[in-house]
Order: sequence, then structure tokens, then C-alpha cells
Amino acid sequence: MYEASPVEKGAPVEWKLPPREFYEALGYDGMKDLMYRFYDEIYDSGIANFFPQDEEEFDKVKEKNALFFIELCGGPKVYNEAASGTDLNEYMLRIHDQFSIYDKSRFEWLGCMETALRATDIDQKLKDEFWDYLEKFSKLTVNSFTDGSTYYATTAV
Ligand code: HEM
Repeated sequence: MYEASPVEKGAPVEWKLPPREFYEALGYDGMKDLMYRFYDEIYDSGIANFFPQDEEEFDKVKEKNALFFIELCGGPKVYNEAASGTDLNEYMLRIHDQFSIYDKSRFEWLGCMETALRATDIDQKLKDEFWDYLEKFSKLTVNSFTDGSTYYATTAV
């Protein structure tokens, strides 16, 4: 697997946005393609149960996810959603509060991204930078721990 370290509950996480060059290398359709392939992996993964089982609902999440990443990486502001007027990254964390996400699930999630990224033909350096964002930001989505406790991180440091 690409490098990934475990979550330390409550520890600050220094993350930074993926570079705009990542979006520019892929383009709008390339980003969609990447994210659709990622969701195909999710569908066949051990965390598929977290996601809607109804195909139409699953497709909606898939589309929203693609638009989010396009906007996040400096593409057009197509995600918006209820997020407009709030901080996009904080909003994204709060979306995940409704699910019990353990580090184990995060590793599965990252594994799906890794598979999708490996099959993406762009400069490895750009993939590494994108991965760095994913590996770190995803730590903040982990809210459930094996000792039975919960902790909801924020983007404020
Ligand atoms: C870098 C970290 C992550 C980012 C940027 C991210 C991004 C997103 C986005 C954009 C959506 C769609 C939001 C919408 O409905 O508008 C979403 C939904 C979701 N994500 Fe994540 N995610 C991350 C990590 C994770 C991890 C580690 C899990 C582990 C299971 C996860 C599970 C889910 C689930 C279950 C949904 C919602 C499905 C539904 O609406 O029913 N995410 N995420």
C-alpha cells in the first residue's frame, strides 16, 4: 500500500489541500473517471455496507463525491450543496459524523483510493501529493475507537 500511518486519537493532524496541478493533469472528466473508479472499488470492498445499498442512491453519493473532489482540487465550484457559506472541509467532516468510522475502515477506504490512483496515468509526484492529503485528512474522519470511545475531530487547530 502507499504509505499510511494509524490515527492517534485527538492528535493534531497537519494536512494541506491537493495541488491544483493534480486537477489540471486530470481535467474535469478525468477527475470524474477517477472518482467513479474509486466508488466501484468501494462497492466491492469491506466498507460497502456504509454506503447506500440502493443503486440510485449509491449513484447520487458517487456523483456528489466526484463534484466535491473537483472543487476541492481547484476545479469549478460544482459541489456547493448545503456547504455554501460554511467551510468546505469542516462541512465534509461533519457529514461523516453520522457514521461510526474506525481506523480499520479508513484503511479500507484508502486502499480503494490507492487502487483507483494506481490505474491513473499521471505524474507520480502529483499522485503522491494527492495521497498525502487523503492519508492525513482521512484521519479526521475517524471518530470511533476500539476501546469503545468516540472523538469527533475538527479542522480547527
Ligand atoms: C479524505 C477523507 C474523505 C473525504 C474527503 C471524503 C469525502 C466524502 C464525500 C465528498 C462524500 C459525499 C458527501 C455528500 O453526500 O455530499 C462522502 C460520503 C461518505 N463517506 Fe467519505 N470521505 C473521506 C473519508 C471517508 C472514510 C475514511 C470513510 C470510511 C468509511 C468514509 C465514508 C463515507 C460514507 C459512508 C459516506 C456517505 C454515504 C451516504 O451518504 O450514504 N469517508 N465522503
